[in-house]
Amino acid sequence: MASQQGAALVAHYAATKAYLRTLAEGLWAELGPSGVDVLACCPGLVRTPTFDRSAPAPAGRLVPPPMSPDRVVREALAALGRRPVVIPGRRNRLAAFLAQRVMSRRAVVRLASARTRAMYPTGSRRSAPAAGPDG
Ligand SMILES: NC(=O)c1ccc[n+]([C@@H]2O[C@H](COP(=O)([O-])OP(=O)(O)OC[C@H]3O[C@@H](n4cnc5c(N)ncnc54)[C@H](OP(=O)(O)O)[C@@H]3O)[C@@H](O)[C@H]2O)c1
Repeated sequence: MASQQGAALVAHYAATKAYLRTLAEGLWAELGPSGVDVLACCPGLVRTPTFDRSAPAPAGRLVPPPMSPDRVVREALAALGRRPVVIPGRRNRLAAFLAQRVMSRRAVVRLASARTRAMYPTGSRRSAPAAGPDG
């Protein structure tokens, strides 16, 4: 989800995720005819050791709660061979739809930045790049 927009405190993290999503889309188109499947999995928050270590504060009711790694993997495997990008979780897909199709870029960047600041207030900023604002 971090690949959807830039955000304060995790600017480089979000930019690398955007690069990876675009790379996967290109490789999907390039290698598909050769029978090679490529998939970018773009989850929101996932309850992993890295996420737990970053000890984020609650991000607020608008942010979908962390998903289990098992469910993320199940949805990713189900999408493999069907499309180049998968966003696991209905609430994450809705958030991505609103961010890409409904809200202005300015509003999306501000909202994502507010979430990051809520999760990693000054003092715990060192942890922010571990999992990003919303994955
Ligand atoms: N957690 C989230 O909320 C979330 C959401 C969206 C995207 N992501 C992305 O998912 C990816 C994995 O994160 P995660 O949360 O799943 O973390 P994780 O469960 O803690 O796993 C991190 C994995 O990366 C390996 N690793 C770390 N440093 C490495 C290095 N220098 N060279 C090779 N392997 C290394 C670790 O290996 P060892 O176990 O051997 O140390 C571990 O297997 C990251 O790109 C993250 O940005 C995470």
